[in-house]
Amino acid sequence: MASTATNVNDFGYRTFQLGKFNFWRDEYFAHIEWPTGAHLIPVDKFLKALIRDVAWNFFYGVVNFDDVFGTVNHYGTVDVFAGLFNPGYRDHDRHHVETLSGDEARSTFAAMLGDWTNEGFDPFAAPEETGSAFGPKHGSNTRAISRTRVVAKRMAGLKEDTPLRNDANGYPVNRQFADVPQDEPEVHAEPGFEDEVHAFNFFAYLSRSDVTWNPSVCAAVKDSLLCPTTEEFALPVIHGNDRVEWFLQLSDEIQWEISDRDTGVVRARAVMKAGDVCAMPADIRHQGFSPKRSMLLVWENADPALPELYAQKKLKPNPVDFD
Ligand code: PHB
Ligand code: FE
Repeated sequence: MASTATNVNDFGYRTFQLGKFNFWRDEYFAHIEWPTGAHLIPVDKFLKALIRDVAWNFFYGVVNFDDVFGTVNHYGTVDVFAGLFNPGYRDHDRHHVETLSGDEARSTFAAMLGDWTNEGFDPFAAPEETGSAFGPKHGSNTRAISRTRVVAKRMAGLKEDTPLRNDANGYPVNRQFADVPQDEPEVHAEPGFEDEVHAFNFFAYLSRSDVTWNPSVCAAVKDSLLCPTTEEFALPVIHGNDRVEWFLQLSDEIQWEISDRDTGVVRARAVMKAGDVCAMPADIRHQGFSPKRSMLLVWENADPALPELYAQKKLKPNPVDFD
């Protein structure tokens, strides 16, 4: 077994191994060591990236925790890397990559998340809605780290599908969406079609999200996934795409920093206001900043053939040309 939880350190935290990577934390930082180098990341930032990498099962393509450490999803196996997409490391052959079984890496990451998250810290919450991640080990926050990700089979609210949200099932309207109307559409289905015809107030549904930067699948038609999310402060990962992603800004504003996926060279800044639509190319990395809690619809194409088609340049990285 390449992954083992070993000793408890002076700060009360367990140390973890994954391949040749060694992970430990102190009061302020997550420390990552490998045979030819070492790195540290502020632990609040690390746990916020870690919980998303675990909950999203390594997501699409690259999840950069910062400009050094992260994962590449190969949908079965995963590359856990240091410096792989950082020219400073690459040019001097100082990067390190471990290719591991996705299940093994994910269970080690989940155990690390469980042990390193203190009582009161919620890595999915906005900074204003969580306590501190710092200090020696004190308690745990199982409720916050074991939320199951919303994944609709067809559409939220349909029979035998992920439920809509209300006060009674534990999803009150968020403090920043107090002005969002909560009325629901009337649906009059023909007899026999009551479980097929469906509509709900999408804004009301999102106003009751208790997490940030966590796209959930609310409607699915084959590979077409509608993944809305509520955003506040900064996306805790820098996502390297392996396919095009469409963004629809449903409310307020997000600014995106967009760079070359492999080198990190800055390419563009997109300021998206309510109603704006953009297609994020398949060869970029991006990080979003939302000054106020906002609603974003991420439209994903889950076709497993896509990464290879883009890698072989059989599809161009941008889906639209405006010329
Ligand atoms: C993305 O990387 O495309 C992404 C991730 C999380 C979000 C929104 C967008 O909440
Ligand atoms: Fe992305």
